[in-house]
Amino acid sequence: LARGYHEKVISHYEKPRNVGSLPKNDIDVGTGLVGAPACGDVMKLQIRVDENGVISDVKFKTFGCGSAIASSSYMTERVKGLSLEDAEKIKNTEIAKELCLPPVKLHCSMLAEDAIRSAIRDYRTKRSKLSDPKKAGYIDVSQSAATGETVATAHPPA
Ligand code: FES
Repeated sequence: LARGYHEKVISHYEKPRNVGSLPKNDIDVGTGLVGAPACGDVMKLQIRVDENGVISDVKFKTFGCGSAIASSSYMTERVKGLSLEDAEKIKNTEIAKELCLPPVKLHCSMLAEDAIRSAIRDYRTKRSKLSDPKKAGYIDVSQSAATGETVATAHPPA
């Protein structure tokens, strides 16, 4: 395995940082799940965002090559403590450069860029649904036929 990989890749591969999962239904968690069509490798990256819009926790799971695992591990360290705006600006070329990936492994770092963007998108979609709770199905507002009273019932989204 080690042959041809740069030591930085091997370091992340052997001791990946922030492996695991966050509870996907938490309202402050965004989940990105992406795949690389070229090889079929899959990466899941999740972020937890605090009330200031800063990424407070990150976890990943990658089923893929050493470069993909190293790219996602590097990405989790890189985005922790960043605002969403700064995190979505991170380019795969930065990761590739940092890990000294050869050109044939560029798509592996692309997976990490796609994954963080997809996690941010998921988080924002969740939040925008929250600001329209009726649409999201969190709260049902109806008028009682009997009393004319407005009744609000909270329930999880369908
Ligand atoms: Fe496909 Fe690395 S070979 S992600």
